[in-house]
Parts: sequence; C-alpha cells; structure tokens
Amino acid sequence: MGKILVTGGTGFIGSHTCVALIRAGYQVVVADNLSHSKVESLARIQMITGKTPRFYQADMRDAEALRQVFLDHQIDGVIHFAGLKAVAESVEQPLAYYENNVYGTLQLLRVMEEYGCKKLVFSSSATVYGAENTAPYRENMETSAVNPYGQTKLMIEQILEDICQADDSWSIAALRYFNPIGAHESGLLGEDPSGIPTNLVPCIARTVMGKQNALPVYGKDYDTPDGTGIRDYVHVMDLAEGHIAALAEYTAKRTGFRTFNLGTGKGYSVLEVVQTYEKVCGKRIPLHTEARRNGDVAVSYADVTRAKEELKWEATAGLSRMCADSWRFICQNPRGLK
Ligand code: WQD
Repeated sequence: MGKILVTGGTGFIGSHTCVALIRAGYQVVVADNLSHSKVESLARIQMITGKTPRFYQADMRDAEALRQVFLDHQIDGVIHFAGLKAVAESVEQPLAYYENNVYGTLQLLRVMEEYGCKKLVFSSSATVYGAENTAPYRENMETSAVNPYGQTKLMIEQILEDICQADDSWSIAALRYFNPIGAHESGLLGEDPSGIPTNLVPCIARTVMGKQNALPVYGKDYDTPDGTGIRDYVHVMDLAEGHIAALAEYTAKRTGFRTFNLGTGKGYSVLEVVQTYEKVCGKRIPLHTEARRNGDVAVSYADVTRAKEELKWEATAGLSRMCADSWRFICQNPRGLK
C-alpha cells in the first residue's frame, strides 16, 4: 500500500488519519514541529494500532529537515495537515499564518518535486466558501476569504492548481473540511487544543468540566430555526477515512488538481449540539448569549455529491455518536494528552 508522509500527524485530524492509514495497510511517517500538538499522540496511535509511525520533529519551513525524511524513506504520497488554523489568531498575526501555512507548503512542495513525489492530499477548509455563498456549498462555487487563515487556504489551493497545470504528473486532492469533531472510539485520541479553544465542541467540553462558567452562544438572532449558527459537524474518524479514499480513489488513479467537500451534508445549530452533548454527558450546560462573532456565517453545510461519487466516501457517524466519542475522550483524558 506504500509509505505516506503525514505532516502535522500528531495533531487532531492528523493523528486520527494515521490510525486510519495504518488500519488500511499503509506505512506511516510523521513530521510535525509539535508547536500545537504533543508527541504523546504517537504512543496513543501505537496503543490503538500496535504500530508506531516513524517520527521527525520538523518544521515545514525547514527544507533541510524535510529532505532528511525523503532521504530516509521512499515516500509514495503526502498528506499535508501541518499549519496554523485559528481564525481569530490569524487576524492578529497574519505574517505567522502566511509564513507557516503558505511558505511552509512551498518548502514541502519543492522537496517533494526534488524527490519525484507528486501525490498530495491537502488539508483545506470550508472557510474558502466565504460569506457570499448559500449552503449547501458545492466545490464549483466562487471562493473568497474573510480572514488571513482562509486566505492561506485559498492561496495554497491556487498554488496547487497552478503546479498541476504546469506539470500533469502531479496528482493533488484538496479536501475542504467542514466542522471536524468527535474522537477515536477508544478514547485514546481526541481533540486536545493547545491554549484556550475557540471551536464549539471544545468550548462545550470546557464548560462541562467547569473550566468556564457558561458557554457563550455567539448570536441568537441569525435567520435560522432557533436563531443560532448552523454548521456541518463531521466525525474526525469519518474525515480520516476521507483521506484514505482520496489516496486510493484519486491520487492513485487520476492526475491533476481537484477539490472535495468532506462533510455530512447535514447542518446542526449550536443549541442542537448543546442539547445532544447534555444528553450524552448527563449534565446541564449553562449558556449566555453574546453578540455574533465577526466573520461567522449563519449557515454552512456541504454538498457531498462529489466525494460520494468520485471518492466513494460518505460520513457515517451522527451527532450523538460524535458527542459521545468526544465526551469519552474528555473523561479519559481530563487534562488532555500528557
Ligand atoms: C461553530 C458554531 C459559532 C464557540 C471554524 C473555522 C474553520 C474550521 C472549523 C479550521 C458557530 C458557535 C462557537 C462558542 C458558539 N477550522 N460557537 N460558542 O467557526 O464554523 O469554523 O472552525 O479549518 O475554518 O472557521 O467553527 O466551532 O468556531 O463555531 O456559539 O464558544 O458555534 O458562532 O456558529 P466555525 P466553530
């Protein structure tokens, strides 16, 4: 099945994807600078799969460190997660986002080209649909960015498309994630944000654990059934399987650049997620209504036709399972990964 380099492989989606890759029979090499994740993820991957990925503590901006990986291993393909991903932080520190995400990807691409490795699955985001489109979002819709983080994803998608235009031996799938939540069913891996989280489910977990008095609900005046924002939450293990499908059904069979939505095609409101989480954890979650967050859209969910038809992939887990798996990880790891 070949050897896959997973950049950002100790992170939330990266580590779950390593589990899915090993289960599918791939050999896995991980490169990560550990700036926003913990090496403990590798031990958890081993506990789940019985295999420990070969690990390089490497920053994407360090071409020499990347070259060492390709010198040591015959890499057949790359899944590129490594990058910064906090929307609000990107507004305060745009240079860090352009340097890490865009320049880091350029370094990786250069080294891949030097070693003749031209199969790439890229971690993109539904954020590229901007604020002008109406859900369900389709891959051929106009894209735009409302913050530097989204801009980096758009820029990288353009770079990848241009590379494929110039050299048709490249095969690149850009996966546009909707809202990844949940955890591996074992409770050994899960979302372990560094610093204060901003995403909904980690914020719910903080509230349930008593680390914050109540969950702020950013806007109850949206044009939605209960007034709160609607998003397409997708189980992180479903998302991981989407990367295996992109390798097997796209980079192994086709060339060129193509984007794919990875979502469930169904939206849930903030209050629906809160209510589901309350059922799962057996505790009430105090709320307080705040003003809308800058840049938030009212409704975001995916049209998943292309991934279903071309990758033979679709999400399987419903919201209850996502919340139950998230809660199990929290209970088993109250202080996160060591
Ligand atoms: C979801 C909903 C909030 C926290 C972001 C990035 C996106 C991707 C996923 C990287 C919204 C509401 C949230 C809280 C709340 N990240 N909310 N109280 O903003 O859809 O997407 O994360 O790829 O690129 O943009 O996710 O989880 O932050 O918010 O009411 O404490 O929950 O307003 O409606 P979002 P989110």
